[in-house]
Amino acid sequence: MAQLLITGGAGFIGSHTCLVLLEAGHQLLVLDDFSNSSAVALERVAELAGTRLQRAQPTLEAAPDALTLVEGDIRDAQCLEALFASAKAFGLPIQAVIHFAGLKAVGESVQQPLRYWDVNLVGSQRLLRAMDQHNCRTMVFSSSATLYGYPSPEQVPIPETAPIKPINPYGASKHAVEALLADLARCSGAAEAIQASGGGWRIARLRYFNPVGAHPSGRIGEDPNGIPNNLFPFITQVAIGRRPELTVFGDDWPTPDGTGVRDYIHVMDLAEGHREALHSLLRADPQMLTLNLGSGQGASVLDVVKAMEAASQRAIPYRIAPRRPGDAAISVANPSLAAQQLQWQTQRSLTDICRDGWAWQQANPNGYGDGCR
Ligand SMILES: NC(=O)c1ccc[n+]([C@@H]2O[C@H](COP(=O)([O-])OP(=O)(O)OC[C@H]3O[C@@H](n4cnc5c(N)ncnc54)[C@H](O)[C@@H]3O)[C@@H](O)[C@H]2O)c1
Repeated sequence: MAQLLITGGAGFIGSHTCLVLLEAGHQLLVLDDFSNSSAVALERVAELAGTRLQRAQPTLEAAPDALTLVEGDIRDAQCLEALFASAKAFGLPIQAVIHFAGLKAVGESVQQPLRYWDVNLVGSQRLLRAMDQHNCRTMVFSSSATLYGYPSPEQVPIPETAPIKPINPYGASKHAVEALLADLARCSGAAEAIQASGGGWRIARLRYFNPVGAHPSGRIGEDPNGIPNNLFPFITQVAIGRRPELTVFGDDWPTPDGTGVRDYIHVMDLAEGHREALHSLLRADPQMLTLNLGSGQGASVLDVVKAMEAASQRAIPYRIAPRRPGDAAISVANPSLAAQQLQWQTQRSLTDICRDGWAWQQANPNGYGDGCR
């Protein structure tokens, strides 16, 4: 059992990962500002894990439970200091951080670059500083396949060694955090640096491809604010009748059916990938892992439409529109390094993704509901 801090743990990937980590016997402190999530997600995680959700201030008035939720911002250095110091005072020092908190909408990042750099980079830097000050030097970081920019066809499936060419502020901010983590890993490689800082860093930079689907119970899933930016929640909202039709951007890409091809990974597979990365770091010497988390399988927009029609038994109306600037034709992972390093690979198919995503959407047509953030 380890005491873990999960930033952004109320969000889509964070909530599913919290469940998997609770089931693995870990004790979790979640820090989230609810800017894109609801505490209801964590109440449901607690229910699925057979525990209760404890709410606390950053000063933790009582010893943390299996699942403790603190409302706060990763950029708030005082909040971070209070959290690390109080956990230590209760004899449960934070041993590792899984860092999901951040802003993730590519289009919004182009409109609001200062906000994206502030939350994603400044927030991460403050968190790393607090960790360093409290001798907590194990982090699993949410990076993104967005770093690969427009992969050229000969680079697909994309290995971790492919050129890093972020093409928007979101990708650039993830790249900057990856660079900061690499600097920390490098400095802890030097004997004097280890002595000076009391120990080396254990870091996993996980580059996710397209996380989709939901827990098979239908109790937790993706609940985007406003109009979804991504294909999958959009399609499920069309299937349930919340939106009239899907817009398919381009049917003239150099792909088998002309629509864009992506690597969709079931969020439960992704959550299990985090568990394996964490366990690998906790058992090993200081090191840095950089791993693609994807299925290695490509599915086109029309493949997803067909799979969702089969899962929902409903027709999904769509309209073809011109290509969107900034999109790539194909983005598919080469996940063999994660298989080798973590003995992890995806277990769930596109059919499973659509079945579980549809179950979530049907049971929760308005997500976690209005007014409960
Ligand atoms: N979903 C994807 O397609 C995808 C792909 C690649 C990488 N990622 C990365 O994975 C991470 C999690 O993504 P997600 O899909 O679960 O997103 P999400 O928006 O559902 O979760 C992010 C969580 O962080 C919280 N948060 C945001 N800013 C915060 C702050 N300043 N302080 C505290 N909490 C804050 C939000 O309220 C939310 O609960 C993000 O860092 C994202 O960039 C996501």
